[in-house]
Amino acid sequence: MNPFVLLAGRVVTVDPARSTTGNPLGALDDAGVLVEAGAIQLVARRAEILSAAAGATVLADEPHAVLTPGLCDAHTHAAFAGSRHAEYAARLGGASYEDIARAGGGILSTRAAVQATAPAELARLLSERLRRMGQLGVTTVEVKSGYGLDQDNECKQLEAIAEAARREDLPRVVATYLALHAIPKEEATRRTSYVDAAVGRVSAFAARGLMRYVDAYVDANAFTAAEAERLGEAARSAGLGIRLHVGQFADVGGAALAARLGAATADHLENVGPSDVEALARAGTRAVLLPVASFTLAQAPPPVSLLRSAGIPLVVASDANPGTAPTESLPLALALAVRLYGLLPDEALAGATREAAHSLGLGDRVGMVKEGLDADLVLWDLPHEHAIVQPWGTPKTKLVTRQGRVLVPTGAPSA
Ligand code: NIG
Ligand code: FE
Repeated sequence: MNPFVLLAGRVVTVDPARSTTGNPLGALDDAGVLVEAGAIQLVARRAEILSAAAGATVLADEPHAVLTPGLCDAHTHAAFAGSRHAEYAARLGGASYEDIARAGGGILSTRAAVQATAPAELARLLSERLRRMGQLGVTTVEVKSGYGLDQDNECKQLEAIAEAARREDLPRVVATYLALHAIPKEEATRRTSYVDAAVGRVSAFAARGLMRYVDAYVDANAFTAAEAERLGEAARSAGLGIRLHVGQFADVGGAALAARLGAATADHLENVGPSDVEALARAGTRAVLLPVASFTLAQAPPPVSLLRSAGIPLVVASDANPGTAPTESLPLALALAVRLYGLLPDEALAGATREAAHSLGLGDRVGMVKEGLDADLVLWDLPHEHAIVQPWGTPKTKLVTRQGRVLVPTGAPSA
């Protein structure tokens, strides 16, 4: 791959070293980047780039475009099959998510679809979704299992995720074993042995390198904090990180557990109180906000101002899943985060780049436009970063690179 240059009307670095009060995302006007061997070599004003980069290809020179880090989607369930449109319509008619789940729909209906899908087809569905996410400016995606619910089908999901993770022509993938998501009907009377089996798979899956994180859905109609704690301990002994779904519907001690386990993230958080927020702040756990889910469920937002004033880094993610967040769009999540949750545009953008990358343990690789980091970059067909959080509903990317490789426009030769 030859060195290349991207020049833009504005380069949003999201680098704290370049940030000031009036310019929190460290934006540089009339600037660019020099990319070599898949990494960012130089971030500077236009003249400096051009003199440092003599001989390099100018891949883009767009005075009316803004350049940002590639977006990182830190919470998705993208390895699914099937559609839950009938449930969505039922919810619009007044049925609740929890009623549908109790009647065997919800996660269990997606489980049935995943069970009925061949491994190669599941991998294809995931890679097509990742390709479309790339077109929206997303270059890193966390993908959870959690629709298999038994040894073979969880393995099938994690292997589909691993296959996508090997592809360099798609966004990079970080895998999470969502071990405790729902209890299949046939296991309902054997709850303890079901949890034992799910937790028991951690070390073998980890030994095969199938995931970097584990996750559990800690909620009133899901799993208890005590059950999730056992998973957390297994994760710790396997050297894995922990992400937890907490407080989506009820506070059953999930956020306190996330803090106690030193989890990387506590996700959802619609129902958490001030003492939980303090505990998360002390533990250094990041908050992952999922506004598409609370939008489709017509729920009140999480306590964003409490989280913010406690100094908890805010991450914004899509929650892409067929039930509560039937979307593939992190930009849609950003639009809802600013409109429904009251995040500032700069805060939301940091939450889908730098903070999301840190939450995935990738803060030294991606999430900023900074020398030494991977060249995961997006040139937007928009004049300013604040235009990214508007609810366009169409891809606004002109050029997307992952490690210097061009993902968008598709089929374009790399430099
Ligand atoms: O993050 N709440 C649990 N998990 C998902 C929903 C999964 C589903 O409904 O399929 C969530 O919203
Ligand atoms: Fe989720």
